Amino acid sequence: MNPNDFRRHGHEMVEWIANYLETVRDRRVLPDVKPGEVFDRLPAHAPDTAEPFAQIMQDFEAQILTGSTLWNHPRFFSYFAISSTPPSILAEFLAAAINQNGILWKSGPALTELEQVTLGWLREWLGLPPEYFGIMYDTASVSTLHALIAARQFVVPDTRRHGARHDLVVYTSDQAHSSIEKGALALGFGEENVRKIATDENFAIRLDLLEAAIQKDLTEGRVPCCVVACVGATPTASVDPIAQVITLARHYGMWIHVDAAYAGPAAMLPECAPHFAGWDHADSIVLNPQKWMLTNVDISVLYLRHKEALSDAIGLTPEYLRTTADPRMLNYMDYSVALGRRFRALKLWFVMRSYGRDGISEMLRRHNADARWLRQQIEADPRFEISAPTHFSLVCFRLKATNQVNQQLLDALNQSGFAFIAHTLQNGQYVLRFAIGNYMTTRDDIAQTWTRIQELATGLV
Ligand SMILES: Cc1ncc(COP(=O)(O)O)c(C=O)c1O
Repeated sequence: MNPNDFRRHGHEMVEWIANYLETVRDRRVLPDVKPGEVFDRLPAHAPDTAEPFAQIMQDFEAQILTGSTLWNHPRFFSYFAISSTPPSILAEFLAAAINQNGILWKSGPALTELEQVTLGWLREWLGLPPEYFGIMYDTASVSTLHALIAARQFVVPDTRRHGARHDLVVYTSDQAHSSIEKGALALGFGEENVRKIATDENFAIRLDLLEAAIQKDLTEGRVPCCVVACVGATPTASVDPIAQVITLARHYGMWIHVDAAYAGPAAMLPECAPHFAGWDHADSIVLNPQKWMLTNVDISVLYLRHKEALSDAIGLTPEYLRTTADPRMLNYMDYSVALGRRFRALKLWFVMRSYGRDGISEMLRRHNADARWLRQQIEADPRFEISAPTHFSLVCFRLKATNQVNQQLLDALNQSGFAFIAHTLQNGQYVLRFAIGNYMTTRDDIAQTWTRIQELATGLV
């Protein structure tokens, strides 16, 4: 592709993206495809000769887009709804052009320093003290994996030398995301050393049971290593009592990691501050700008109080990457399993500057208000019941009917293509999760979806 062709196709593509964003509301959220259908539609062998760009673009629309779940759709209410905003789309375009790889400072000075700057700005917005060192990874799962690496090294400093032990225990709640157990499995803590502590009627971790589990492990000769508490846990966006968990875990010399992958940005809102009380004393915190902070996939942020625990565990410099030492020179490879590093900070920088703290806060507030409004509509329909507290922008509810009928309701809505919601199972009950989080979502999108749910319910019961 010569520079003139690039210009032409680039302009056409920006036009395409602008049109797409303007009209995405008219598309299905879930694609109407069966497993294997996209695969079967595509050629079995790669082309031997170059194909015209226009043909590839045409196939993208016909084959790929029609087989895609549209996460950047205003009626995507599933999992935790997310946004890819115009500034972050354009910043990704630029990042691809300059193609940075921030292995170490020398391989990407601006990448390295912009990551420090944006994470310093974000830390301030979140009300976290300057002691926290920030680093970006692709996902919350990988951020938490690194938190667990640091936790183990911190609690047992000879881990690097001797390797994994089989008596270190990780505690979290029965609402915690599977990434915590997966991280523990990957690091060799062992399945039987992960405690999923039961939660109370609001799905918050029970401190009495947490302490009892720690005591039992100590009595039986195991070593409590790390507690992972959640602000905005996946099933119902429940909130653990962070301050009390930290006091308890400190008493036993453990590392405290806070999983705020979804809800973290809400710490910017004074009205949400009580949910985060005490989190500024955690040893590590994860939050994902790719979830509720207007930035496209992938970008997750880990804040660490003791960054040296991570470099002590996995820092390693092969000769070809050795550089002179300088106190201002940060080499992110010392804090990461992956050597290479995408320029994720660029899109966060564009987003933070394009919206400002006020713009981001306004969106978070709007989503929280929309969730409260939806909750009121659900409460006004006696056929339905609310299943969990609404702390943020997720509303959990169910039809007062069997699990099977609730599942039929969810399937009918999702298959219609109009909207996409998810479910969870709480105390044996099938619960519908309505997650608001896309920047384009309006009150009308929510109202229309709720009306459809009511109509479908009428047909089912
Ligand atoms: C609370 C929480 N933690 C962690 C994760 C894992 O996120 P990721 O897909 O970025 O690994 C999720 C995913 O939704 C989540 O809700």
